[in-house]
Amino acid sequence: MMRHDPLINVSNLAKTYSNGSGGGIPVLRKVNLRAYRGEMAAIMGPSGCGKSTLLFILGLFLSPSRGSYYFRGEDVLSLSRPAQAEFRSRQVGFVFQGSDMFENSTVYENLEFPLIYAGVRRQERPGMISEALDMLNLGHRIKHPANLLSGGEMQRVAVARALVNKPQVILADEPTGQLDRENTQIIMDHFNKVVTDAKTAVIVVTHDPEVAASCARVYVLEDGVIK
Ligand SMILES: Nc1ncnc2c1ncn2[C@@H]1O[C@H](COP(=O)(O)OP(=O)(O)OP(=O)(O)O)[C@@H](O)[C@H]1O
Ligand SMILES: [Mg+2]
Repeated sequence: MMRHDPLINVSNLAKTYSNGSGGGIPVLRKVNLRAYRGEMAAIMGPSGCGKSTLLFILGLFLSPSRGSYYFRGEDVLSLSRPAQAEFRSRQVGFVFQGSDMFENSTVYENLEFPLIYAGVRRQERPGMISEALDMLNLGHRIKHPANLLSGGEMQRVAVARALVNKPQVILADEPTGQLDRENTQIIMDHFNKVVTDAKTAVIVVTHDPEVAASCARVYVLEDGVIK
């Protein structure tokens, strides 16, 4: 695979949510998007325009109504369900909007979960977890209960959890929402570090023009279409 081939290539993607009464709510109408290894891309647009919907489709958490999605040249929409689950657990790191944690668990357990899901052996997990936490200056919080973290720490843990598995693409839904400049910078510096290995792509949903300015591409979603 050549460096300039897109890692993600999405064409004419559409998503209509059913509203239970026969009609539907068209959210995405025609989305074309590419993401490349070694690059960060931003998705922007007003609240409710479908940014999270698009990210869920890219993570294979949700099926589109129409359109194509190629990942490393492979048509991932036509994979079997087990193959899609495998794709999710191995290739994708997802930062959910609001950085939901398992609250009754420690930081360590929150990061261990995706590793268990991906079948990483028990003895390999501590090293991977410490490495991911150290990169986000969270090494000292490893045994901390997740519900006692500050908002900024929680968002950093959510980012660490998305990358602990060394996925090929990180899909981050407003990972710096509600963060101050300093914590925003820590997260963006980290994404920058991750993409410099030229094996990983980062796609970040953001409302922050400064975050978008540090991305190689900016996609603006409006009325269901990428401008
Ligand atoms: N499961 C669902 N069923 C029906 N409608 C939905 C569903 N999920 C989302 N929607 C609608 O789809 C639209 C897009 O939602 P989405 O969460 O993708 O927006 P968003 O761009 O991420 O917004 P925000 O910036 O506020 O997070 C909204 O109008 C929302 O109400
Ligand atoms: Mg959203």
